[in-house]
Amino acid sequence: MEFFETVARRRCYRGEFTDAPVSREALTKILEAAIEAPTACNAQSPSFVAVDDPAILAKIAEIMPTPVCKTAKAAIVCVADERPVFADMSFYKEDCAAAVQNMLLAITALGFHSVWLDGVLRRDQNAEKIAQLLQIPEGKRVQIVLPIGVAPSEPTKAERLPFEKRASFNVWQEQQ
Ligand SMILES: Cc1cc2nc3c(=O)[nH]c(=O)nc-3n(C[C@H](O)[C@H](O)[C@H](O)COP(=O)(O)O)c2cc1C
Repeated sequence: MEFFETVARRRCYRGEFTDAPVSREALTKILEAAIEAPTACNAQSPSFVAVDDPAILAKIAEIMPTPVCKTAKAAIVCVADERPVFADMSFYKEDCAAAVQNMLLAITALGFHSVWLDGVLRRDQNAEKIAQLLQIPEGKRVQIVLPIGVAPSEPTKAERLPFEKRASFNVWQEQQ
């Protein structure tokens, strides 16, 4: 898929997935896209756990019982390391976001769908429950989860504000 088409087609999908599988080969490509993302000081702070074991996916769905989690054929868990990488500065949120965006684009380019799950991890100790399930060591935290599968139809587009309301050239342009 052409790059700008991939960018335009990427949408968060929250419905049920079809039975179409997500291969280990596809997951590896998606993880490689994450690893290519920039990180502050090239510290490469995020790590990733790809889950394709149905028993572990079922346990993730018990923690977050939404249609997308209950039917996901795979999931990638982005694990943050909050330790400072330059003086006292930590960039783990930015590092995770860059990696996740690369993965979402790779997921789209490969014909799969996903949703950026972040807010839901902050409720009911869901991040901690997933960390325990995946045996993530102390000092690291589950930051974002991407359930992956194929949607039955193209997800609805969440509309964007007009270009002029979001962007300008050279100097700030008062929004219309
Ligand atoms: C930092 C961040 C956190 C998000 N957390 C969630 C979440 O917990 N659950 C969810 O369904 N979507 C979550 N989203 C997805 C947004 O709701 C979604 O990107 C937005 O509505 C625009 O829709 P689109 O991605 O389809 O263009 C998150 C997105 C970002 C960037």
